Amino acid sequence: MTIAATQTFPGPAWAELPEVTLLASWPPEEPLRGVEVLVEAVVAVGPAELDLLPDLRLVANYGVGYDRVDVAACRERGIAVTNTPGVLDAAVADLTFALILACRRHLAEADRFVRAKRWERGWAQPELLGRDLAGSTLGLVGLGRIGSEVARRAEAFGMEIAFHRRSGGLPLDELLRTADVVSLHVPLTPATHGLVSRGRLALLQDGATLVNTARGAIVDEDALVEELVSGRISAGLDVFADEPRVPDRLLDLPNVVLTPHIASATVETRAAMTRVLVDNVLACARGEPLPNEVFA
Ligand code: DGY
Repeated sequence: MTIAATQTFPGPAWAELPEVTLLASWPPEEPLRGVEVLVEAVVAVGPAELDLLPDLRLVANYGVGYDRVDVAACRERGIAVTNTPGVLDAAVADLTFALILACRRHLAEADRFVRAKRWERGWAQPELLGRDLAGSTLGLVGLGRIGSEVARRAEAFGMEIAFHRRSGGLPLDELLRTADVVSLHVPLTPATHGLVSRGRLALLQDGATLVNTARGAIVDEDALVEELVSGRISAGLDVFADEPRVPDRLLDLPNVVLTPHIASATVETRAAMTRVLVDNVLACARGEPLPNEVFA
């Protein structure tokens, strides 16, 4: 089985793969005949890229979200696609909660304040007064594995939980109107692309916080930037519509905390993701059912 990868992945399981060719660039500059497995993370894999890999049998996606892989195009060519669900829920929920706390308690801003030697009076800078989590309402958009982990953490902090999902909970507009903190936990699909539109962002209460550790394109990013520039709301953003590009206008704003898509980035979780990915590749090599095959 010939394997090509866009990068190496951390953890001991990686060494269990037979020889892996590291691709110098993505997409490859010329067709790669004989490559049967592509191991990748957050790269676009569509018909043009698949044309360059004529012998492919498996796209093994490192991550639970596989929105950059055209699964339908893969299926048409008899290529399976797998992902790495179930092992990153806690890590993503932890970072989501870190962003909630950072926004509600001005953590990044307070850190910059101290480093800039602006701490001149003894106590209580009025601009750094935060909001209590206890008694405030967390609105979860999506209540799957990750959303449920976030809810568990929020309960421990004394937050009220509201949720919206396809099969129940509050209507989305009502959730946006009533929550103090809104956190997004849906996959990026045609149905969720732009789900938090300009009009829906306007429904957020003054002083509300939006947290996104899911996918940038779920939100109308231009409209979000405008809301943040106005100072009406705050946001904790781990994901962006066109990564690694982050809108310049966000960079100097005090009311936004920015992280570079690191929600699953812990030593333990990334090693566990590699384990799941490798198990899928090895199953493919043995001709066994793939543990984590996804379908369009
Ligand atoms: C995922 O698994 O989809 C994450 O975004 C990767 O960190």
